[in-house]
Amino acid sequence: MQKVGDWSTAADMGLKPTEIVTNPLRAAELLRLGGIVAVPTETVYGLAARYDDVQAVERVFLAKGRPADNPLIVHLAERNWLAAISDCVSREAESLLDRFSPGPITVTVPKGASVSDRISGGLPSVAVRIPADPTVNAVLRALGIPLVAPSANRSGRPSPTTWEAVRDELDGRIDAILVGEPARIGIESTVVDCCQLPPVLLRPGSISLEELAEVLPNIQVLDPIHMDTETLSSPGLRYRHYAPAARVVLVDREEEILERNNCGYLGLTCIANAESLALCRVFSTADEYARWLFSSFREADQLGLARLYCQRVALAGIGRGLMDRMERAAKG
Ligand code: TXA
Ligand code: MG
Repeated sequence: MQKVGDWSTAADMGLKPTEIVTNPLRAAELLRLGGIVAVPTETVYGLAARYDDVQAVERVFLAKGRPADNPLIVHLAERNWLAAISDCVSREAESLLDRFSPGPITVTVPKGASVSDRISGGLPSVAVRIPADPTVNAVLRALGIPLVAPSANRSGRPSPTTWEAVRDELDGRIDAILVGEPARIGIESTVVDCCQLPPVLLRPGSISLEELAEVLPNIQVLDPIHMDTETLSSPGLRYRHYAPAARVVLVDREEEILERNNCGYLGLTCIANAESLALCRVFSTADEYARWLFSSFREADQLGLARLYCQRVALAGIGRGLMDRMERAAKG
């Protein structure tokens, strides 16, 4: 029997070539028929399927080569869809959604009967998010059914932030790509586990710890990079993520850049002799750094770089999420 991740060509999967679509209504139609379609969101591009179609959900895992115990986020068009997903949403989850939704916040809620174990990875909870991006929102409204949507990359690779990056990752393995703008935020949503007390920040994102603490003063922070993988409460945190083929080296200062040949640099501080590097991107803010991080990783791969030096940032604001992605990439 073929295992998850064994698929190598479109023919193996029995798929037609991937359709490039520009109309959200066409994307909704393909999804309604059980298709798997990449869609833009404000964070990163997602690979969507109807949450109530077991076969379509299965194909999402296959196309990504995603481990079966890594659960999916269910995406909703609006708040009142939540009743179909869970029948006892905690006060903590409600208050985060009140404050930050629609937007880049994902909360866990007790899983309702309509959500399959395949989606929750066998957990009693399910993660939900209401994206703000108007294109994916138009798809959800036209379809009228929640969508699962993990990031539209092969498992372990950086999340795609443009439709072209999705094509590079998944062409021939998925039914369609809905063309949209480059993702505005560039790193995945902030994930908060609201099924335990106190609630726990599982994945930092553009909604910062400081903002979360205004709503949930007792929120705890998981430090997955330095934790024993067996004890992690979010299965997704156990896996290597976000890594380009180039070796990522984190630095604070230019003096730590020991090699230049076939190497690149990303950071907030300008460096001398930038032309001796094969790639050099200096960003003016941490938000801009986050927005272009994953596409810079892809650029490094396209250039065949051996090393990519990434300057560390302060853990304030989006900096915590940005450092999380860079530390994971460096760990790989
Ligand atoms: O910004 C985003 O969240 C993007 C866009 C497409 O919406 N989606 C995304 O999905 O990043 P994915 O599957 O790549 O990451 C989902 C993360 C994983 O780390 C997963 O383990 C965690 O959320 N997760 C999902 N359900 C969970 C649950 N019930 N409990 C704890 N963690 C959960
Ligand atoms: Mg992902």
